[in-house]
Amino acid sequence: MKDINFLKEKNARSLWHPMAHPADSLANPPTIVTGAKGVRISDVDGHEVVDGVGGLWNVNLGYSCQPIKDAIAAQLDALPYYSIFRGTSNDQVIQLAEELREFFAPDGLTRAFYTSGGSDSVETALRLARQYHKIRGEAGRVKFLSLKKGYHGTHFGGASVNGNANFRSAYEPLLAGCHHIPAPYTYRNPFNETDPAKLAQLCLAALEDEIAFQGPGSIAAFIMEPVLGAGGVIPPHESFMPGVREICTRNGILLIADEVITAFGRTGSWTGSRHWGVQPDFACTAKAITNGYFPFGAVMIAEHVAEVFEGDETGRAAIGHGYTYSGHPVGAAAALACLAEMRRGDLPGNAAARGTQMHRGLLALQDKHDIVGDVRGGHGLMSAIELVGDRAKKTPIDKGTAARVQETAYQAGAMVRVSGANIILSPPLVVTEADVQVILSALDKGLSAA
Ligand SMILES: Cc1ncc(COP(=O)(O)O)c(C=O)c1O
Repeated sequence: MKDINFLKEKNARSLWHPMAHPADSLANPPTIVTGAKGVRISDVDGHEVVDGVGGLWNVNLGYSCQPIKDAIAAQLDALPYYSIFRGTSNDQVIQLAEELREFFAPDGLTRAFYTSGGSDSVETALRLARQYHKIRGEAGRVKFLSLKKGYHGTHFGGASVNGNANFRSAYEPLLAGCHHIPAPYTYRNPFNETDPAKLAQLCLAALEDEIAFQGPGSIAAFIMEPVLGAGGVIPPHESFMPGVREICTRNGILLIADEVITAFGRTGSWTGSRHWGVQPDFACTAKAITNGYFPFGAVMIAEHVAEVFEGDETGRAAIGHGYTYSGHPVGAAAALACLAEMRRGDLPGNAAARGTQMHRGLLALQDKHDIVGDVRGGHGLMSAIELVGDRAKKTPIDKGTAARVQETAYQAGAMVRVSGANIILSPPLVVTEADVQVILSALDKGLSAA
């Protein structure tokens, strides 16, 4: 490693950070993370904290998962790369597809299309959804519906179905034919409805209305996160996703579950769709599939969709889509080891128990700190608090407040993530009761400094 002074001096000088203003990165240089062990990360000054962010919702098993590291090292020796474009395959992707088929069987998903990350997975699902309809002779089904507040990555297709202006405005015009309906976000919604069950029904009615307005025969797919993540952790009422499934089925619209965060245990169930008792037509996965140790993803495809592609005799099902790193053997080896590790012990059970602890702890912090307007979570280890200037009026916080909370919490022992007015918590799923307590205590100190 270069010496500390070099790193601090150069920091953001020659690189631009994703999701940051370059001038801000220069004015407020980022924390330089140089090490990690278990569920803790350490910075260039040797300060060690519990990682309340879990990398970026992906390091579910923590930073010391030796079998995954070993699998990556061994695969680099055996076959560091080969493409799986038409005509070639490798042993790792074949084994992994069999494992994924078993893992996702309860979700009705039986085929895998490999990608190199979440945005790629979303793009793949959107494209295959359009192609599915073309194969079946419904070429007019090209539009996509999604939720405001949803996050689906940053490729043009994903950004077009994204429901947050921050990821859209600077890059418009986006894809034509993408339309959004209100999210089941009880704290703020156009219906002024705070009851989750009633709000779910209103959002479903808005979906029906939009489908009728657009014309069902023009819509390819509806995409949603089972629990909205980057938009500020918005768990819908339990009736919502089943309601979406029913409406989609009735209108011939495919349902894409964006499980980039929720697959592999984070909600306290193995998948977010399973959490709500829904079988989607596609599920986008990435992130925790390799525990974040290698960029990799997989779109899982429902049996009935696969049959349409595989049974095609017109040539329309030829897939003109894929990435150089689709099916990277090192990523596949990492994913195989990761799946095996995830299955040891009760990962969703721990996510559920620690998630409940986190949620209760955040509600207690809301009682103590007026700045906490809303607490969201309660479904595994995905939680957020929304900060407000005035609780009664739900006014926005001053610029800099959330950063102060974060910095104080960091000094007090926990990394937490700021996204707009939200502080988001998504620690590794292997955190202990004591680790969660460290995060809550650090956040308590952060909120006191707000
Ligand atoms: C639900 C969801 N979809 C897609 C993505 C994009 O994934 P990536 O950043 O790996 O491209 C993310 C990333 O956070 C996500 O949370």
